[in-house]
Amino acid sequence: MNHDFVLKQLTWRYAVKKFDSSKKISATDWQILEESLRLSPSSYGLQPWKFIVVHNKEILKQLTSLSWGQSQVEDCSHYIVFTTKVQLDEEHIDRHVAKTAEIREIDVKNLAGYKRVMVGDLLNGPRSETIFHWAQRQAYIAMGFLMQTAAMMQIDSCPLEGLDPKGYDKVLGLENTGFGTVAAVACGYRHLDDKYQNIKKVRFDKKDIIIHLD
Ligand SMILES: Cc1cc2nc3c(=O)[nH]c(=O)nc-3n(C[C@H](O)[C@H](O)[C@H](O)COP(=O)(O)O)c2cc1C
Repeated sequence: MNHDFVLKQLTWRYAVKKFDSSKKISATDWQILEESLRLSPSSYGLQPWKFIVVHNKEILKQLTSLSWGQSQVEDCSHYIVFTTKVQLDEEHIDRHVAKTAEIREIDVKNLAGYKRVMVGDLLNGPRSETIFHWAQRQAYIAMGFLMQTAAMMQIDSCPLEGLDPKGYDKVLGLENTGFGTVAAVACGYRHLDDKYQNIKKVRFDKKDIIIHLD
């Protein structure tokens, strides 16, 4: 385990404000980043998400104006919009249960208890009323996974919450699909002129945020 490498990349990463639009992530590197999304953990493993990689320049232009005009949307190499299910339904839970049975080679009947717990908690329990919030939290984990993986690969990123989710839904054709925009991550390579790469990170001291209970 190379501790120096991990720490170096953690401090190397920063929220890029200006990307070098001439630099593109290679197809091979991009495949790894997609795997980081696919392998992200989620509550019950339910993966209530779709990740939209926007390549279309016209759509990117429209998204910029729905993102406080932030230049990262158009200047990055790959722009990923994180969307999640607005409502959870039994069909989605069934899909997950069926996939689990298939991959682990078990009878779906043996997963009935697991399904009951998920339905009882997320569809019929009090959490059903805030399920989009639940789903959004899962998306944030995937965002973290993507940015962390990118940093380890010396690929830059910027998370974007400064956007109009309803406007995005319209432009991306998400209305009436059951999915809603949560946030986005721009990936690519920093512009050498981006002054933010040289400013010091602002973080509270470890002693103020990490508590050890012995
Ligand atoms: C959920 C989330 C949303 C963010 N939204 C934006 C954004 O819309 N635009 C932007 O330039 N930075 C955005 N940031 C970047 C933060 O401002 C940045 O991560 C923070 O100031 C710490 O700096 P560092 O990431 O460069 O270390 C966002 C960060 C997170 C985690």
